[in-house]
Amino acid sequence: MIPLIDEKLEKYAYSHTKAEGEIFRELQVETHEKMAAPQMQVGRIEGQFLKILARLVGARRILEIGMFTGYSALMMAEALPEDGTLITCDIDPKAEEMAKRYFAKSPHGHKITIAMGPALETISKITEAFDMVFIDADKVNYPNYYKECLKILRPGGLIVVDNVLWSGRVLEPSDSDTQAIDLFNKQVTEDSNVENVFLTVRDGMMLIWKKSI
Ligand SMILES: C[S@@+](CC[C@H](N)C(=O)[O-])C[C@H]1O[C@@H](n2cnc3c(N)ncnc32)[C@H](O)[C@@H]1O
Repeated sequence: MIPLIDEKLEKYAYSHTKAEGEIFRELQVETHEKMAAPQMQVGRIEGQFLKILARLVGARRILEIGMFTGYSALMMAEALPEDGTLITCDIDPKAEEMAKRYFAKSPHGHKITIAMGPALETISKITEAFDMVFIDADKVNYPNYYKECLKILRPGGLIVVDNVLWSGRVLEPSDSDTQAIDLFNKQVTEDSNVENVFLTVRDGMMLIWKKSI
């Protein structure tokens, strides 16, 4: 990976971001002990960023594509009102088992519904509008997720997409995942229905605002 920011500066940013609650620390430890790719978890900086974005949007309904063991889902759920809902999609039963236990322990877990199965199938069955979508699953489907999520996002709603730098590989897209991310990045930037900004936070985060007029 091309280092985007000096390691000491990254640590400084981490230690000056509000510490997550104890439940998130437990979830991180167990994810590192039991899952093959624990680095997929968004972690403190991105997690707190997602939570603040959800608050700013005034989100009542959030869709997440790529739950893994539930860190980002729980972070965003904390920003929802008591009657708010977050639907989160995944295909990995081992991740689901862990996420379910942590959702059950959290006072915000009751806001979360897990949708197991390929996310594109789940999205195709959705009829109600969402205020915010977080895309963080299989990269090859990023262009499809963008197209389908835009349809179910309310005007003025926000889509957040992770890993848009893909460790710097987007500069020379030679494999199918990187090509899909690069295509998605171009697709969004050229879409007149949205405004967007590409942030070089962590592995790159795209913020997409759906125009309301
Ligand atoms: C990067 S991880 C998500 C990390 C999560 N946001 C977090 O903070 O812990 C990506 C997840 O997407 C899931 N996934 C991959 N392909 C999928 C698909 N077609 N539909 C739904 N989920 C998928 C994987 O099983 C994996 O758990």
